[in-house]
Amino acid sequence: MNIIETTNYSTLSEKAAILIFNQIKSNPRLVLGAATGDTPKGTYEQLVNRVKREGLNLSNINTVNLDEYVGLNAIHPQSYWNYMQENLYTPLNLSKDQAFIPDGTAVDLEDECDKYEQRIERIGGIDLQILGIGRNGHIGFNEPFTSFSSRTHIVTLTESTRKANARFFSNIKEVPTRAITMGISTIMKSKSIVLLASGEGKAAAVDKLLSGKVDPAWPATILNEHPNVTLIVDNAAKNR
Ligand code: F6R
Repeated sequence: MNIIETTNYSTLSEKAAILIFNQIKSNPRLVLGAATGDTPKGTYEQLVNRVKREGLNLSNINTVNLDEYVGLNAIHPQSYWNYMQENLYTPLNLSKDQAFIPDGTAVDLEDECDKYEQRIERIGGIDLQILGIGRNGHIGFNEPFTSFSSRTHIVTLTESTRKANARFFSNIKEVPTRAITMGISTIMKSKSIVLLASGEGKAAAVDKLLSGKVDPAWPATILNEHPNVTLIVDNAAKNR
């Protein structure tokens, strides 16, 4: 694993943005796997600024997101579609044909999961997957003890994840109980992965990852078996 240590969140975001920018520059048809949450916001902001400053052409990239809440439609303020619209699609002028997120309102959710896998394959697989990490070591919404061979699937969110995400809603009751997420094997098929970890709340999960041991209780530890992972971590998230 390639590890980039930074002193703070802003530098972490800058390093991640430069990495994504350079990958798009060298592969204008890049398939970018995107994450939501607080951690990548700074990265997206810096990426947008850099793309605008340097006039990078993004008309041939595709993006695919890790996950979406079940039951929230695209225009719900806390849907991941809406998050992506605000943080990336609108500022980068990406069209609907370039941007894929699972549909959490699909009538047949199992079918939506299969279609999502097919969509990823159809566009050539993920070249660069951006990941955040949960306090409990989840990646995407793959909670502890999710099968490492899982494909895109429906998950019941743990109480700890719902509590952590309640900050985005007016109260915990509004946090959906289920989500669609890429599976761990879907994520592991990405050609390269960048994991962003910031803040002391992530230190325990980062510590498990850096132990080098693969432990189903801490899903991110499977990344130790991927040949091309870069961890960008700030001081607060790194004890080891
Ligand atoms: C988001 C996602 C999650 C988050 C994780 C960390 O699409 O899949 O795994 O990356 O919950 O969230 P933040 O960055 O808000 O701490």
